[in-house]
Amino acid sequence: MITIISSTNRPGSSTLKLAKYFHKRFLEKGVEAELFSLSQLPSNLIETDLYGQRSKEFEPIQQIITRTEKFFFVIPEYNGSFPGVLKVFIDACSFPESFYEKKAALVGLSSGKYGNIRGIDHFTGVCHYLHLHVMPLKIHIPSINKELDAHGNLFQPDTLRYSEEQIDKFIKF
Ligand SMILES: Cc1cc2nc3c(=O)[nH]c(=O)nc-3n(C[C@H](O)[C@H](O)[C@H](O)COP(=O)(O)O)c2cc1C
Repeated sequence: MITIISSTNRPGSSTLKLAKYFHKRFLEKGVEAELFSLSQLPSNLIETDLYGQRSKEFEPIQQIITRTEKFFFVIPEYNGSFPGVLKVFIDACSFPESFYEKKAALVGLSSGKYGNIRGIDHFTGVCHYLHLHVMPLKIHIPSINKELDAHGNLFQPDTLRYSEEQIDKFIKF
């Protein structure tokens, strides 16, 4: 099973809009996929689910992560890297059954010029540490404000070409 992770808990985030678009595309291609947004994390996660503790609220989230074979991370650029809440989430998930020897694809986005190139590199390092195998084709979407139409769809020809290539390759990965 594929799970798309919208990697921020910011209300009204473009990341969630983009993650919903990718979710729709996987379903349209007949591939089973779920969407999980970090906005669904328990708000007191840093008190309840780090360092070996496990809360009732996090258990169903852990079950989704444990049964996922492939993760499709959609990751915004925050201060030149990936969001801190994404690392907190990874640190809260059980080791090794969450990510070990599984597969991932990474999409970076930003309102600025760089599409989270550096944050995707940083997160690739974390994935490698976890033995989470990252697909070589990673895409970067800068100026996200100009990329989604009124229905939440990508429409720029280059972005469509690369995102479709990434989806198709990830299905086979
Ligand atoms: C805490 C924070 C830090 C940010 N840092 C950057 C940055 O370093 N570079 C950039 O291009 N955009 C930055 N942004 C803007 C995001 O890229 C922008 O909000 C974009 O829509 C993706 O994030 P979102 O899913 O929160 O909307 C930052 C946003 C937040 C909330």
